[in-house]
Amino acid sequence: MSDEGHFLEVVDNRTGKKHLIPITEDTIDASIFAQLGLSIYDNGYLNTAVCRSAISYIDGDKGILRYRGYDIEDLAENSTFLEVSYLLIFGDLPTRDQLQTWETRIMRHTFIHENMIDYLKSFRYDAHPMGMVTSALSAMSTFHPEASTALQGEHIYENETMVNKQIFRLIGKVPTLAACAYRHRIGRAYNSPSNEFGYTENFLYMLDRLSENNYVPNPRLARALDVIFILHADHELNCSTAAMRQMTSTGVDPFVCLAGAASALYGPSHGGANEAALKMLEEIGSVENIPGFIEDVKAKKRRLMGFGHRVYKSYDPRAKILKKISDEVFEIMGRNPLIDIAVELERIALSDEYFIKRNLYPNVDFYSGIIYKAMGFPTDFFPVLFCIGRTSGWLAHWHEQLQQPIPIFRPKQSYEGAEPRAYVNLADRSAAQSPKIVDQGVNARKNLPPDTE
Ligand code: CMC
Repeated sequence: MSDEGHFLEVVDNRTGKKHLIPITEDTIDASIFAQLGLSIYDNGYLNTAVCRSAISYIDGDKGILRYRGYDIEDLAENSTFLEVSYLLIFGDLPTRDQLQTWETRIMRHTFIHENMIDYLKSFRYDAHPMGMVTSALSAMSTFHPEASTALQGEHIYENETMVNKQIFRLIGKVPTLAACAYRHRIGRAYNSPSNEFGYTENFLYMLDRLSENNYVPNPRLARALDVIFILHADHELNCSTAAMRQMTSTGVDPFVCLAGAASALYGPSHGGANEAALKMLEEIGSVENIPGFIEDVKAKKRRLMGFGHRVYKSYDPRAKILKKISDEVFEIMGRNPLIDIAVELERIALSDEYFIKRNLYPNVDFYSGIIYKAMGFPTDFFPVLFCIGRTSGWLAHWHEQLQQPIPIFRPKQSYEGAEPRAYVNLADRSAAQSPKIVDQGVNARKNLPPDTE
């Protein structure tokens, strides 16, 4: 099992014993350390492999991203989002017949239950669209009781038909939920899906059709968005995909797993960085202000949003493709002046010693926000667009994990709390010892200082 006799030689100087730990595919088995009474401390799982996966591959030093062995550049150039989804989930590109069946099955699952529409309508007029989508995904579990492991038992997913049905449903319905959340926000009636269109065209149709009988979305914009979905479809064990795997390990149904993954994506450090990059460009305001901004970044007063990556220590290949897509989108929608600031910011940063030394390059979020803005999407909708693309990746990991069952995730902690102590009765507790809770007080509405209550 080890890499041709490669071992890590460890001497435990508490006991003087030497241990040979086999190295397998650049990893060592952490459970061996349990036998030595040790666990690995890895705050935030920065260097812990929690599964073996064949879905996507990243070489951060060389700026390579591959799905199932195919370069992201090739897929973005030649493929469609649904084709790539098939590749990610089932391991290879579909034949013509397989693709046709796959697309038909997914487009048949774009409709959502009328009660789900009522549920979505019950949100406040200004509800964040990502809050609506994550809640709706969780609620969807209750609309498909035959797919609920809580009701039917985990064995239902030993049946491949059952697995595939939930994949069709989720890839089909996520854009519909997203479109309903968008229409809710702008105070327009929801559009039913139209299966005469392809996947991404139908999404734009649901977003934009008003009363036109023959509304046809712009095919070039639909293609640009389809490629953006490809770029966002998978990125190995990012935070939301790790959440997907963690939820899957509990045996809960895929609707709830997806709600968990989407909730992780909702976080500003994950799905929201493109919004931060866009706000930064707006704040810089003009090309003349860039040098001053760069000085602030170098003085650590600011971060250059959309730059740097935990894994990529060279140009993020997705950012390169997005830069090209931006030209196409501007040709249709008009040039967004923020692009000039972005291009100049990139040029200055890439020739500055501070950024060169730290291997800081544009990441996927640097250009995606400007493109979304040029397409007319509101900023709080950006993570929803990310979510549509990433749904395929999450489902690919769900599918893979069902085939190689992993025990329920249970990371360890390193306890650093109080030593055992005797219970203190209420009368004997001192204010100095008991933590004070910071609170506005119940009378905040009356604008009274909290301690006058
Ligand atoms: N602007 C300025 N300096 C930076 C930046 C940045 N964007 N990113 C890293 N640095 C500096 C950092 O201050 C540190 O400097 P020093 O060595 O002097 O202390 C050095 O570079 C290494 O930084 P780090 O924090 O150890 O790098 P990391 O790999 O932990 O951080 C990151 C990665 C993405 C959190 C960070 O680059 C960042 O905050 N970027 C801006 C936010 C952003 O664009 N996020 C989206 C990431 S891509 C999302 C996706 O793939 O889905």
